[in-house]
Amino acid sequence: MTTKAEIPDQNNAQLESIERASIDELRSLQLQRLQWSIKHAYDNVAFYRQKFDQASVHPDHIQSLDDLSKLPFTEKNDLRDNYPFGMFAIPREKVSRIHASSGTTGKPTVVGYSRGDIDDWANVVARSIRAAGGRAGDILHNAYGYGLFTGGLGAHYGAEKLGCTVVPMSGGQTPKQVQLINDFKPRIITVTPSYCLNLIDEFEKQGLDPRASSLEIGIFGAEPWTNQMRVEIEERLGIDAVDIYGLSEVMGPGVAQECVDLKDGPTIWEDYFYPEIIDSRTGKVMPDGESGELVFTSLTKEAMPIIRYRTRDLTRLLAGTSRPMRRMEKISGRSDDMMIVRGVNVFPSQIEEHILAIDGLSPHYQIELHKKGNLDSIKINCEVVSGQYDRAELEKQVAKRIKDMIGVSAEIDVIDVGGVPRSQGKAQRIVDLRGV
Ligand code: DLL
Repeated sequence: MTTKAEIPDQNNAQLESIERASIDELRSLQLQRLQWSIKHAYDNVAFYRQKFDQASVHPDHIQSLDDLSKLPFTEKNDLRDNYPFGMFAIPREKVSRIHASSGTTGKPTVVGYSRGDIDDWANVVARSIRAAGGRAGDILHNAYGYGLFTGGLGAHYGAEKLGCTVVPMSGGQTPKQVQLINDFKPRIITVTPSYCLNLIDEFEKQGLDPRASSLEIGIFGAEPWTNQMRVEIEERLGIDAVDIYGLSEVMGPGVAQECVDLKDGPTIWEDYFYPEIIDSRTGKVMPDGESGELVFTSLTKEAMPIIRYRTRDLTRLLAGTSRPMRRMEKISGRSDDMMIVRGVNVFPSQIEEHILAIDGLSPHYQIELHKKGNLDSIKINCEVVSGQYDRAELEKQVAKRIKDMIGVSAEIDVIDVGGVPRSQGKAQRIVDLRGV
């Protein structure tokens, strides 16, 4: 694996003391913060008070971290039902910032931050960039979108807090991004993995060798990406690629971050966000190591505490390695993105793995969902990298791999480079044409 980044010494003095604490110290801090957060939500948000009362649980009943499971879940629809400011626990005048996720239909999901929340968020992002190998003084090219999306401003404040020089590029203007990377010589890039692929293509289009760029570290998130995609990006760009996870309802980017020296899945910043894995069907809490849906409870948030938020992201919790905090396995997909094809559950990430394993295909792909009679079927559009490959042969290869390894039949269409729509932020992997 390409490693341009200097491996940081994890025992160095830059770590916060909680990053070096014992598990007991961490658990004790979590319990103290959890009790505060639950009481804060109950006392100040009508929605939580009603829900807890209905479930006959009172904040005083939370005497251990396990007691958290007595509380009801919060879901995206609860935020929509309380649109726009009904989930806030502090007077609106004390809210410093609002973000919102557009969602494809209906009302956006609104989140709010106090001054203190913005500081905490900057702190977890600064910690994340440091864990990714970033240092004060580094130039950081931030290509996450600025605006209501939390990616741009979230990464920005964290990078400034760490002491980086931030280039607030946002998404889009692809040729200009490449020009500025060449001219400003950033060491770090923060961007979605799918948009990074576009940047790499643009380097090549301009006759530049992406590996010769100044970039050493890429901090990629906001969408699922596989380890195969990591290898593809690391090799083509000559960087270390690490995973940053987060969601606006819980904070934004920086809920969890993969450490560059191990690249073994994001470490959850458990002193701010308490994770659980549940069986999404029954709601039962699963032991560490078992796969299920990730649920988060905020431990410090003032403006919008969030209790047992169902993320719909699928993963499992793993023991900490470079920190006392637990890690999560790379997200395999969102339960919303699960396609059921003739009874087989399929996630885009499974398809991504196979496309990336085949010589002659670009890493860009999109999956179309169709209805044939009563049955759902999928068509995968991918791209041939050059004329030297036989398309029909590639189509056969992809179809065979997907049939053999995932167990579903898919129609494959290998098209010219550029045929698959490019993202400037989060890639749209699935296009649902069933109603068309
Ligand atoms: O995507 C926050 C973010 C910005 C994270 C930049 C990382 C970098 P939302 O728009 O609310 O927030 O979308 C959150 O994106 O529930 C996951 O489904 C997905 N997601 C975020 N990070 C990852 C990741 C931002 N590293 C939703 N791997 C989440 C897989 C991710 N999926």
